[in-house]
Order: sequence, then structure tokens, then C-alpha cells
Amino acid sequence: MTGTPGPVVELTGVSKTYGDVRALKDADLVIHRGELLAVVGPSGSGKSTMLNIMGTLDRPSAGTVRIDGYDVDRLSDRELSALRAQTIGFVFQQFHLAPGVPALDSVADGLLYSGRSRGERRRLAERALRRVGLGHRLYHQPHQLSGGEKQRVAIARAVLGDPPLLLADEPTGALDSRSGAVVLDLLHELHRAGTTVVVITHDRDIAACLPREVRIKDGGIEYDTARRHTGGRTGERTGTPATAVLEEATR
Ligand SMILES: Nc1ncnc2c1ncn2[C@@H]1O[C@H](COP(=O)(O)OP(=O)(O)OP(=O)(O)O)[C@@H](O)[C@H]1O
Ligand SMILES: [Mg+2]
Repeated sequence: MTGTPGPVVELTGVSKTYGDVRALKDADLVIHRGELLAVVGPSGSGKSTMLNIMGTLDRPSAGTVRIDGYDVDRLSDRELSALRAQTIGFVFQQFHLAPGVPALDSVADGLLYSGRSRGERRRLAERALRRVGLGHRLYHQPHQLSGGEKQRVAIARAVLGDPPLLLADEPTGALDSRSGAVVLDLLHELHRAGTTVVVITHDRDIAACLPREVRIKDGGIEYDTARRHTGGRTGERTGTPATAVLEEATR
């Protein structure tokens, strides 16, 4: 499946209700290829709901979701899984690494259903681990890795197949500020290499150091730096480097 040119994510009038909870209300959001942005908002504002919908892990109650040009609603579950596998990498706050499994295998297992041989999977996994600076930790199991290293293993797994879109839900939420800064620097690096990166965070300092900020409150988008009319700022600003902000926060 190859996507059409155009935005990598396009949400139009997207709502999500859980019983009587309106977790997302009529959200419009366009993300172009090569963007790096934060979706920021307080706990319960609908950030993970939005990420799950963007990531095609969940379907909206109303509205249209286009990913890489495909209207998600028109795809069968099988086509949707294929689109997700080829297009989207996920990183979560809790790293979701299987206990007792060496980093190399944790990452290589991401390609289990890709039709590649075990040797090829491990070769690609090693390359991905080197890319995140963990060439010296290939055989370490999760309990032998620091939190920041675990998150870097999770990122290596997420970017293994070179997905054009990386969705990270509170990727630094479980980390101390220094490890968090390393992870953010890595996300910046992936962005520079061409990946579209969406960082979900409740931390306004982290959001402020990314080129675009989408603020969500009570399930609605209240501010988007890419839309001049909502705030007067544009998506042009480069902000403070992540490391500086996080180090400042620990002083
Ligand atoms: N499966 C569900 N069933 C019922 N309500 C839900 C469900 N998932 C989320 N909600 C509700 O929807 C709202 C938005 O939840 P969401 O997880 O998107 O928030 P969030 O912004 O990611 O918060 P946090 O920063 O705490 O992770 C919350 O009020 C939550 O209680
Ligand atoms: Mg959340």
C-alpha cells in the first residue's frame, strides 16, 4: 500500500464518546509530512484518545480520519492493520518490553510477521539499536537497562520498519529529566531524518520546545500554533532545545 501525496494525518470533525463521556469533540487537525509537534493538555483532556484514533488503534464515534491519504473508515480490519504496520510507529510512557527478553530480540520481534528471516530481523534490529545509541546494550534485558535506555529500545522497535509517522504518548513521563532530555533529543533526530513525530504530553515546557503545539482542553482543540487565527503565532518557531528546558526544570 502506498499513500497518496498530502497530509500524513487528517482529522475532520472527529469526536469520540465513551458512554456519556465526550473524550474528543469535533477535532480538526492536519499534520503534514516532516512535522514535529506536541499535543499538550491536562490529564483527562483527550490526548491519548486522539493518539489512539490517529494511530488507528481506535475508531472515532463521528468524523473522518485519513492516514497517509487513506480514509480509515473505508478500510477492512486487515487493510487497517497493514496500513498501521507500514505507516505508524508507537512509543508509550510504559515501555512495554517483555521481561527477560534481550534488547536485540525485543526489537527484532517487531518484524516477526514481516516475512524476513530471523538473521535479517536481528541485523535490522541491531542497526536500529545502534541508531538510538544502544549498540553496547544489545543483549541486556529490561531489568538490566535504565529507564531512558528502555525507552530508547522501545523507540528502536517503533522505528525499525522506518514508518513515516511516529506517535509518542508521554514518552518521557516515566523518566527523570536527564533521560527525558535524551529521549527528546532522539525524537528531534528522527524528525531531522524525515520522520513525522507527534509527541503527546501534559508538560507545557516540553510542548513549548517543539516547532508546533496543539493544545487540547476538555476534548477540544483550543489552540494550534500552525493556525494563525487561533493565536497569532505560526508554526515557524524553533523554541528552546529540549535539553536546556529539562535541565532548567531540575534546578
Ligand atoms: N475506555 C474508556 N471508557 C470510558 N471513558 C474513557 C475511556 N478512555 C478514556 N476515557 C475518558 O475520556 C477522557 C479522556 O481520556 P484520555 O485518556 O484521552 O486523556 P489524556 O488527556 O490522555 O489524560 P492523561 O494525561 O491522564 O493520560 C477522560 O475523562 C477519560 O476518563
Ligand atoms: Mg493519556
